[in-house]
Amino acid sequence: MADLMPLQGFAHVEFFVGNAKQAAHYYRTAFGFTPIAYAGPETGVRDRTSWVLAQGDIRFVLTAGLGPESPLVAHQARHGDGVRDVAFAVPDAEQAYRVALERGASGAREPVIVEDDSGKLVTASIHAYGDTLHTFVDRSNYSGAFAPGYQAVSDRASDGTGTKAPLVAPRGTAVGLTMVDHVVANVELGRMNHWVDFYAGVLGFTQLVHYDDEAISTEYSALMSKVLWDGTGRIKLPINEPAQGKRKSQIEEYLDFYGGPGVQHLALATDDIVATVAALRANGVRFMRVPDTYYAEQREKLDWSAIDEDLASLREQNILIDTDDEGYLLQIFTEPAQDRPTLFFEVIERHGSKGFGEGNFKALFEAIEREQAARGNL
Ligand code: FE2
Repeated sequence: MADLMPLQGFAHVEFFVGNAKQAAHYYRTAFGFTPIAYAGPETGVRDRTSWVLAQGDIRFVLTAGLGPESPLVAHQARHGDGVRDVAFAVPDAEQAYRVALERGASGAREPVIVEDDSGKLVTASIHAYGDTLHTFVDRSNYSGAFAPGYQAVSDRASDGTGTKAPLVAPRGTAVGLTMVDHVVANVELGRMNHWVDFYAGVLGFTQLVHYDDEAISTEYSALMSKVLWDGTGRIKLPINEPAQGKRKSQIEEYLDFYGGPGVQHLALATDDIVATVAALRANGVRFMRVPDTYYAEQREKLDWSAIDEDLASLREQNILIDTDDEGYLLQIFTEPAQDRPTLFFEVIERHGSKGFGEGNFKALFEAIEREQAARGNL
């Protein structure tokens, strides 16, 4: 049977932010992304600015509204800076949209074909959890910098003609990030299974793994998580909901500050996590810290014969390690990327393991709770 919902991977992630110019500077200087395209008043877009940044196969779009009446500004007032759209690359956006609606999805934007000298781009969007969208993007007939309405950003003004600011921006110094590995949602208590059913029914995903609140609990708080995937590994979407604990779950803290469900973290892959994390730290990125006792425990607990890593280097960068039947993975989590304790990033290097670091959940969540307590929210 033909796959009616073929998804080719993550196309891009769009953030609604308070100040796209400054956010672009942050993701360039701290995370090593290079600005590749821009849309705004200078390119004929009147109500917003969008900066597109790239590293490896990752595309971030940072968008801000330009006036108090803008729905983008209202979104940012409600949620703070955060992810608006997790876009999927598809071979046929009109079909993906039609099939999604037939399967019960709620439409956010009908299919639209936009064209310029570089070809045509087809997009359509459906609603996901909270105010988050999934946009289907067919860029098979488009060769421009990002999309019609966007102009390419160069790292130097061309001689004589002088490309105008802001279409000139320095390149970022890449830190080795290659692709989006997974995108995690936080949803309200009791809503996890609704969204599991949504991804299974609408996008044809299957459940890869389930972590119950026994597996993910500390002395104070707990959460539950199910991981949906497309079957190929190109798209993996864990969904968390809070569970009963003695104190406030980190998921509840997120829901309070984000004003509802949304993207909790984006995991970005690297082939050399020690070098990537060292570069990020040098750029000023801050990470959650596990205590040094974690490394003594790992030295005892894990079978190091199958792990080609230097424990001292991992400890120096405070990188976490976890193993399963298929291999191992290395991971680390940043502090929240904005004022509100909402979105953060994970950096991950996989060696066979298809897991999410369940062996690290306890140490990690205790580290998160120390930060939560420091904010007065535990
Ligand atoms: Fe993760």
